[in-house]
Amino acid sequence: MDDFKGKVILITGSSAGLGAGTAVHFADRGARLSLTGRDEAKLKGVVSKCVQAGLKESDVLTTVGDLTDETFRNQLVTRTVDTFGQLDVLVNNAGSMVPGQLSDPGMDSYHTQFDLNLTAQVALTKLAVPHLLKVKGNIVNVSSNLSFVPWTGCGAYCMTKAALDMFTKVLALELAPEGVRVNSVNPGACHSEIFRGFGMDNQQAEVFLESIAKTNPVPRPGEPEDVARAIAFLASDKSSFITGELLVVDGGGRYAKGEIKYFWPGKFPDILLEGLENLKTLHELSHSWPPIKALSSQESFWSLTVDPGTRPEARDWRPRSAMYPAAFFIEKVDSSET
Ligand SMILES: NC(=O)c1ccc[n+]([C@@H]2O[C@H](COP(=O)([O-])OP(=O)(O)OC[C@H]3O[C@@H](n4cnc5c(N)ncnc54)[C@H](OP(=O)(O)O)[C@@H]3O)[C@@H](O)[C@H]2O)c1
Repeated sequence: MDDFKGKVILITGSSAGLGAGTAVHFADRGARLSLTGRDEAKLKGVVSKCVQAGLKESDVLTTVGDLTDETFRNQLVTRTVDTFGQLDVLVNNAGSMVPGQLSDPGMDSYHTQFDLNLTAQVALTKLAVPHLLKVKGNIVNVSSNLSFVPWTGCGAYCMTKAALDMFTKVLALELAPEGVRVNSVNPGACHSEIFRGFGMDNQQAEVFLESIAKTNPVPRPGEPEDVARAIAFLASDKSSFITGELLVVDGGGRYAKGEIKYFWPGKFPDILLEGLENLKTLHELSHSWPPIKALSSQESFWSLTVDPGTRPEARDWRPRSAMYPAAFFIEKVDSSET
């Protein structure tokens, strides 16, 4: 397949997850790729996969750095254009998910989230636009179905994605007369490394994804390839009459309703394991375990994680973050605070 023959595609966040999957998806389509992330070793691993998939080594450029750094963003775009002579497609994919309640004191997690998920995307786009105008290229932003669905525990994340969607729509109107299209792919929960930001290890992330997947109309988690195919469609001439569009790739997840009951027994202290198997709802759990009373009992499913091997006393534990309706996490209260 060579539907991107000669095109230059810059994919941010391509050292892992959806961005890495997208890079591999483009690898045998005749495109030249500019890949970037902070982790050089992971980026090299993605290059190897692209080469295995058919990309010539001379057709892939890697630039390592932090997208929240203005100097790095300039370097990334300049290097891409200096190396390949043009830029046809910008995929604004890099992002993270920072836990926290919007009502928590302090603005640190808010700024961390906005700096990467929104400001970096907007700033990088501004640098790319002059080059995209020359070739009548296009932009694909990677948003989320959480731009429509409010989830507590990652409220700032939801806000960045909602703002990114409006960025997509307004920019699409601005650039349409110039022949540059701007669209968005809005994934649901997919296999990637993003849940590590919530302190989940791979096994926990798998459990989390499976629990969400059970409520999806299409009952499985998303794969990077699902998202990559949508990005490739929007980046291609097949979508030449589509701009300002948000393409949701979530197996219908934004309409999901249902009840999942799941525990991570391996992570529970023994004392909690006793009787847990019989607990059926968050409501019942909240009545059996005082610290959780603070959380709403209307939610229908959840997951918990606590340090293994610790005997929990009610006063020692409090909610750390919540991702309703899917999961919440607790942490041990620092004894100096009590
Ligand atoms: N996975 C999902 O369920 C899901 C659902 C909806 C939307 N999304 C969106 O999909 C996009 C990709 O996420 P993912 O799930 O693939 O996550 P991921 O596996 O954690 O990958 C994130 C990518 O972003 C890069 N990145 C993170 N912080 C960066 C920084 N400060 N500077 C430069 N690069 C940075 C990472 O590279 P390094 O680690 O090398 O820096 C990595 O390549 C995000 O915008 C996310 O919001 C994901």
